Amino acid sequence: MSKAIQAIRGMNDLLPDTLALWQRIEQEALDVLALYGYREIRFPVLEKTELYKRSIGEVTDIVEKEMYTFEDRNGDSLTLRPEGTAGCVRAGVENGLLYNQVQRLWYAGPMFRHERPQKGRYRQFHQIGVEAFGMSSPDVDAELILMSARLWHALGIRGLELQINTLGTPAARAAYRQVLVEYLRSHVDQLDDDSRRRLDMNPLRVLDSKHPAMQDIIAAAPSLQDHLDAESVEHFAALRHYLDSAKISYRVNPRLVRGLDYYTRTVFEWVTTELGAQGTICAGGRYDGLVEQLGGQSTPAAGFAIGLERLVELALLQQLTGANVSPQVYIAVLGGSEAVREGLGQAERLRDSGIRIELNCGGGSLKSQLKRADRSGAYYALLIGDDELTRRAATLKNLRAEEPQQPVEFDRLPEYFRDRLAVGDKS
Ligand code: HAM
Repeated sequence: MSKAIQAIRGMNDLLPDTLALWQRIEQEALDVLALYGYREIRFPVLEKTELYKRSIGEVTDIVEKEMYTFEDRNGDSLTLRPEGTAGCVRAGVENGLLYNQVQRLWYAGPMFRHERPQKGRYRQFHQIGVEAFGMSSPDVDAELILMSARLWHALGIRGLELQINTLGTPAARAAYRQVLVEYLRSHVDQLDDDSRRRLDMNPLRVLDSKHPAMQDIIAAAPSLQDHLDAESVEHFAALRHYLDSAKISYRVNPRLVRGLDYYTRTVFEWVTTELGAQGTICAGGRYDGLVEQLGGQSTPAAGFAIGLERLVELALLQQLTGANVSPQVYIAVLGGSEAVREGLGQAERLRDSGIRIELNCGGGSLKSQLKRADRSGAYYALLIGDDELTRRAATLKNLRAEEPQQPVEFDRLPEYFRDRLAVGDKS
């Protein structure tokens, strides 16, 4: 036997047992998104590398070291999407969805980042992303946060902390940048290599450095909050007012800067302490300059993305379960092709009534079929053999409770199960 091929590090298989919970979360999210008027958009997982460089920013961890970038057979540089906002904006502009319009869009699917894999951090992971275009006022920032809060509530997820911050306008950030660069230059011999490089390209990211030796310099650095423009301050105050009125609790975290360059004004994250280091379940903010930066007409925008692996992990910790999709009835077929034909027919009739059926295919002894029936999770087994064909009645066996076997006429089967399966755990 040749050696089995293994999956790529950091890219996970999602198996049927876990996916029941994934599906429940996805369905709940779809329901909540519909309540707020969001519509789905789908765009490719591969885009031109230039798209991500121009949107996420050349001097970000994602673009500098985490993208899956390669040349295709034509020599074009392509990249597997590390996030969805850039592709969503590209698709919106290209298809004329954003021109002088309000759009509320969502997407879901895999994203790819070549990060160091650890719990909650993978190289292929999944997001549900939400983007609202054409609205510049803080009401939509608040609505996005209320929508995410509604999803946590609908799912029964507890204990998430909402952190918010404002990054101001690009002009205010540029002014602050000068002040910051002056400050950092005066301490240049204490900066680590990464920070020294970022000093010219992207000095705000220096504040994100996790280097222990840098922490004192960072703590004493001038604060962006003291250099914000008046409109951004007002925008942030209005957002806080809306959140207060809606009784959404939050913490203003002036250190919240986000790892992507396109943000302006509002940024936010929903964070849990239950998952260790990778505790951000959902993150986003406003990005009023991005549409224009990617070649569209100037269009305000805001959005967020939920990291599904982390949300599922938290949901499991909090004992949430997915919907039960095990069969309710297992049909065992004993005998020749006449019994098989009857089994196929009865299974279809029961499915017409919405009953989940697993039909034994491929024959087998009564004993082995009942073993499979037990493993399937079904509540009842129906036996169809020669006697049953003659009597036009299947033999019913309760797989989960002591109950004598009994015949149920073929004609009465759908009605019989509709009555019995309506009760509790059998559905
Ligand atoms: P992000 O903060 O890069 O933002 O990612 C959003 C969420 O995706 C994170 O909070 C986390 O839950 C999840 N995530 C990110 N990287 C990984 C990973 N390697 N493994 C597992 N989960 C991960 C964005 O992607 C923006 N596009 C969000 C946005 C939408 N902003 C505006 N609109």
